[in-house]
Amino acid sequence: LYKPVGDLRSPICCILGHVDTGKTTLLDKIRNTNVQEGEAGGITQQIGATFFPAKKLKEELIKTQQFYQVDCNIPGLLIIDTPGHESFSNLRTRGSSLCDLAILVIDLMHGLENQTLESLELLKMRKTPFIIALNKIDRCVEWKNKKNASSYYQLQNQTKNCKMDYETKRQQVITQLAEKGFNVAFYWENEDPKTYISVVPTSGFTGEGIPDLLSVIVKYTSVYMKNKIKVKEQFNCTVLEKKVTEGHGTTIDCLLIDGQIKKDDKIILAGFQGPIVTKVRALLTPHPMKEMRVKGEYIHHDVIYASMGLKISAVGLEDAMAGSQMYLANTQEDIDKATEIINNE
Ligand code: GTP
Ligand code: MG
Ligand code: NA
Repeated sequence: LYKPVGDLRSPICCILGHVDTGKTTLLDKIRNTNVQEGEAGGITQQIGATFFPAKKLKEELIKTQQFYQVDCNIPGLLIIDTPGHESFSNLRTRGSSLCDLAILVIDLMHGLENQTLESLELLKMRKTPFIIALNKIDRCVEWKNKKNASSYYQLQNQTKNCKMDYETKRQQVITQLAEKGFNVAFYWENEDPKTYISVVPTSGFTGEGIPDLLSVIVKYTSVYMKNKIKVKEQFNCTVLEKKVTEGHGTTIDCLLIDGQIKKDDKIILAGFQGPIVTKVRALLTPHPMKEMRVKGEYIHHDVIYASMGLKISAVGLEDAMAGSQMYLANTQEDIDKATEIINNE
């Protein structure tokens, strides 16, 4: 379905931040969905994944092209949503360890909060490149919004009062970041994104800044991470969640990072009673721009190429362990090698 373009796969981006900074709402605006409203207590409790095809990215990139040139030469973008609530630090660790680039969401009204600091530590420790979405700009006084517009233009179109309010608040956040040793620059004036962390003002409420956010992600990954997102043959796939899916029994939601997987492939993965060897019965993905963790329609595939979030249905997954690595097991040699790795974990 989504084959690699040239020699590049879709980059994997992980969205991180303190609870209620607006991570899921931002994704909802890009997807045109209402996932956040369906969450218990408005709290994300699972890792999610959404695929954005190049066509969608190009539509957004047009809105910034007058001042920020980006060519979209990637097949798409896979965004991993994570919970911000303090009790899910294992999921933040898992999500951030699987991504090429992270988006750290900071609430402009609140500045750095506990899980912002935790996320910054995680990113620093793993040397994960990241950008910052400075979210909820619509809460500045007298904000005049224009749905889904570039925030670069929108910030120039505000009243004097609004601009002053915004300047004060953004300066507070920048100072807090500098105190933690992070040097940042607004993306439109950032000449050196490998040294200065790009900041993108956004609103998940109005969609302002979405074109900017996607432009920065596409540019960062396709210009500065070309090597990292080169297509690799080596199979690399992680189990994100195990769940019962209507009509499919126990399934696993996976993240295919490199390589490809086919229907009827034999797979091996860690189970609570030892390694599970089974055969892919159905290879499913949600539709593009739909959240994988939300119940919906699934597309059946014969083969899936990295990077992609996918659901696998197979016999014997009741026992599967979320967070573990999955291996192909088409030969006895594959099985022996993987069994040894799993048993030594
Ligand atoms: P967790 O996943 O639970 O950590 O939260 P989250 O970061 O995904 O935040 P969520 O999308 O659940 O949004 C939290 C609340 O903030 C909701 O009530 C949203 O409507 C609101 N919100 C999100 N983004 C914005 C924004 O840009 N502006 C305003 N005014 N409200 C926002
Ligand atoms: Mg959320
Ligand atoms: Na929330």
